Amino acid sequence: MTDKKKIAVFISGGGSNMQALIDASKSGLLSADIVWVVSNKQKAKGLIRAENEHIESFVFKKKNYDSPQAAGDDLYQKLQERHIDYIALAGYLQLLPEKVVKAYKNRIMNIHPALLPKYGGKGMYGQHVHKAVVESGDSESGATAHLADEIYDNGMILEQFKVPVFDDDTPESLAARVLEQEHKLFPRALEKLIKGKYEVNDG
Ligand code: GRF
Repeated sequence: MTDKKKIAVFISGGGSNMQALIDASKSGLLSADIVWVVSNKQKAKGLIRAENEHIESFVFKKKNYDSPQAAGDDLYQKLQERHIDYIALAGYLQLLPEKVVKAYKNRIMNIHPALLPKYGGKGMYGQHVHKAVVESGDSESGATAHLADEIYDNGMILEQFKVPVFDDDTPESLAARVLEQEHKLFPRALEKLIKGKYEVNDG
């Protein structure tokens, strides 16, 4: 049993950010092990990535439980059974159950494909974000790593990597440029969180 920190990664889609975390763990850039992948979507392609990396996965569907409370209790128990130290939200499009958010205060990190606090909140995900940025005429965008809490994209901002927005950008071209920075930012920010490099307020 290694004493390296254990990370659970939550996904809803392709899992390229999860893959970046896995690769960083394997290369030593991230001094933690990705030991569990949770998806709210049965068909998330990220689950195939997890299988290819021989990482245990679980499809967490709130509708499979009698109540939100039961869902939260079960997810919390599974996290404890796996001795999970940190949670990485990598394109996970749901809020975590309150019980888990409280138990993992300051230990849940989300990656968002814009410069929060702009272009965040419920419904602002994926192409919706990049479309809003392109239409706004903003000259820059980027990726944000932040602590996650019980409100979408609301927790303390830890670090941001910026990219230019060009006049001829489409949401797709901007998304690709931002995603490249997400893949760099997420592992680095998670490593700094684990190493206590951020002044997170315990208040
Ligand atoms: C990324 O743009 C991420 O910032 C956002 O959803 C997308 C997930 O992409 N939350 P992937 O599933 O990690 O490839």
